[in-house]
Amino acid sequence: HLPDGGGNTLKVLKYKDRLWPAFAPESIRGVETFKSRDDDVIVVAYPKSGTHWVWEMARLLLAGTTDVPTIEKDDGMIEDVFPDVLEAQPSPRSLNTHAHFELLPKEILEKKNCKLIYLTRDPRDVAVSYFNHHRKLVEYYEYKGQWKDYFPLYVNGKVDYESWFAYTQGWEQGIKDNPDLKVHVTSYEALHENTNEEVKKLAQFLGAPTDEVFVADVVNKTSFDSMKASKGKNETYREKDKTETPIMYRKGKVGDWKNWFTVAQAEQFDAIFEQEMKGIRPYKLYTN
Ligand code: A3P
Repeated sequence: HLPDGGGNTLKVLKYKDRLWPAFAPESIRGVETFKSRDDDVIVVAYPKSGTHWVWEMARLLLAGTTDVPTIEKDDGMIEDVFPDVLEAQPSPRSLNTHAHFELLPKEILEKKNCKLIYLTRDPRDVAVSYFNHHRKLVEYYEYKGQWKDYFPLYVNGKVDYESWFAYTQGWEQGIKDNPDLKVHVTSYEALHENTNEEVKKLAQFLGAPTDEVFVADVVNKTSFDSMKASKGKNETYREKDKTETPIMYRKGKVGDWKNWFTVAQAEQFDAIFEQEMKGIRPYKLYTN
């Protein structure tokens, strides 16, 4: 239980000195022994970066049709699914993980066989989204803190998957150091701004059909409203959440941080960002 300074705590799971969500230890351990397949597609992103959105895009693109069941069983996260369940999935698998680069399943780095989709999001919007996630997923996190007390926890990486900065530094460096990894880079903001074009690029990367009609159909089926309406109904999380609104589809906007950050928090965050991200890549904040 990580204390937030306001008298509340966030429950996480510590495994080999790293912070994970309170998933079954067996599934977390499974990350180390994960068997990759040549046709695996894996969305890699820090939590709350739009993983479900891009995961669904990948799933439809790989299927080559949007006419597949819309039931989201949430069975794609490597660290949250038992190894035998992952093994039983037919190829090509569309998976995701929030693991830091250095914690990636060994086979992925050794064989460099899978296709990875590396997704980033403005870390301020991630902070707000993660706060709501931590507050709403009561059964996992037991968190009752307020935004002002959560902010330092997030900035200091005292959350599951730890610091956004460390995560992003690790991935940016990892991609640079491994030019033969098959990685497609995209961002939540780019997907918002130019959805059709981004989905088309993704389709090209995955070797999926790129015709206008199919791409437009994928864009349509993965819109926020469409996913919230169809998938939200079946979301496993909703039950744990005990609310009508599934937590994976909260607001779906760029720049919501402005409704949460105080001026002081925004300034503090900018300063830390400048310092932490220096030399990583000219990584301008998206929504200034
Ligand atoms: P907000 O909390 O800002 O609304 P993840 O899937 O990585 O957990 O990310 C969740 C975030 O992505 C949430 O952000 C959620 O609303 C947003 N999201 C989910 N599906 C989306 C979609 N189809 N289009 C845009 N945003 C989506």
